[in-house]
Amino acid sequence: MDYEAIVIGGGPGGYVAAIRMGQLGLKTALIEKDRLGGVCLNRGCVPTKALYAATGLIGRTKKASEFGIDFSTPDIDLTRLLTWKEGIVDRLVSGVEKLLSANGVDLINAEAKLVGPGGKVSLRSGEGITGKRIVLALGSAPIEIPGFSFSDKAVWSSTDALSPDAIPERLVVIGGGVIGLELATIYSRLGTTVTVLELMDEILPGIDLDRRVMARVKAGLKGMGIDIRTGAAASGYVNEGGSVLVKTKDGEEFPADRILLAVGRRPNSAGLAEVGIALDRRGSVVVDENLETSLPGVYAIGDLTPGPMLAHKGSAEGLKLAAHFAGEEYPLDYGTIPQAIFTDPEVASVGISEKRAKEEGREILVGRFPYAALGKALGMNEPDGFFQVVADAKTKRVIGVQIVGAEASDLISEGAIAVQQGLTLAAIADSVHPHPTLPEGLKEAAENALSRAIHAINR
Ligand code: NAI
Repeated sequence: MDYEAIVIGGGPGGYVAAIRMGQLGLKTALIEKDRLGGVCLNRGCVPTKALYAATGLIGRTKKASEFGIDFSTPDIDLTRLLTWKEGIVDRLVSGVEKLLSANGVDLINAEAKLVGPGGKVSLRSGEGITGKRIVLALGSAPIEIPGFSFSDKAVWSSTDALSPDAIPERLVVIGGGVIGLELATIYSRLGTTVTVLELMDEILPGIDLDRRVMARVKAGLKGMGIDIRTGAAASGYVNEGGSVLVKTKDGEEFPADRILLAVGRRPNSAGLAEVGIALDRRGSVVVDENLETSLPGVYAIGDLTPGPMLAHKGSAEGLKLAAHFAGEEYPLDYGTIPQAIFTDPEVASVGISEKRAKEEGREILVGRFPYAALGKALGMNEPDGFFQVVADAKTKRVIGVQIVGAEASDLISEGAIAVQQGLTLAAIADSVHPHPTLPEGLKEAAENALSRAIHAINR
């Protein structure tokens, strides 16, 4: 065998797996046909967050007049904005390349094909290499629905929306999931009139968020001027000379300059069944508890396997797999993977919601604390939102945290440690948090669950 492990796919699942395998002394190759970093670095998380941060400034300057600082209407130079975004991506991609090399991983820039059992991988050049174990980290791609095709310039995928040729005046977003709402937030800040059409009765339908958290997210998005239509199934559109009209099954019509189709993603599993790898009915690769597929010696991680399509889920699976190859343990509890959604306001969660805990018949304690009672939040002019902690009533262990409001994506990590480590409410409540800071909100929510918050009236 040429290698102890061959990883195919250089996204946050694959490159993290390869680096850790290198650190553990395994002779490893990483094969990537495109640029390192996968969707997340090149066309997903990273460029989205760069644009999210840049456009967030526009929202903040608008609100600054409330405390006596007036800005004039911003001039947006789209070319410079996109160049800046690309610069961040380039920097991270070249960093990954250096890390692979520093950890002894051979990077092969080629399109690879799994030949079948026996650890053989063929490269498009005609060469072949062999590995004791093969790791598939092939990622996912956006899906189309009948009536819409990315081949029309008027229909954007998330990739197109991250590199627009111009800022559209009107954008109709199809799909009120994570991608749809994050990009709706960015375009609304850029001055675009945004309408979101969501098939289900609620936005973010697949995510376990409590009703009041959802209410706060919706109020924030509506406050920005985003028109959210739920129960609206987009069925097609007409494009007459660039003038686009999106239609729903109920016969409603929405004019647009661009359509963003964000109705989900599918695993890049085409061709795998032919070499004997079992897929489930959604096209995800079926894996066992060690992430091994039905083809012995072939493993799969990230968006290719069932579970949330999150970069950090793929990375965690990569670390788990590397540990497994080296005979080490890496605990990964899927129920404790946090999620952060970059809307305005941000929303983040880990563990289970209050609603789900009740549905499961669990006895729980719930604590909440508003941003409006935090000195730091008021000083930031960010009074909207709240922290919520759910704990088991008997053990007082924290089983779920939800945060909606400024910087929720950063604040959730303390909750993630609590849920992962099975910490009690007192562990959070009794640890001294610096004042004045936003994380004090989580401490106070934990205290509130114990009926002893200082800066809120306890029930
Ligand atoms: P999604 O599954 O989250 O949302 C798609 C939405 O489209 C659903 O709400 C669905 O009901 C709706 N839909 C489907 N057909 C429709 C129709 N004909 N008309 C109107 N609505 C329709 O998928 P999305 O947003 O494309 O994201 C893909 C994956 O990427 C998700 O798993 C997501 O978690 C992940 N992601 C996560 C991010 C984060 O955690 N910050 C950021 C970006 C993506």
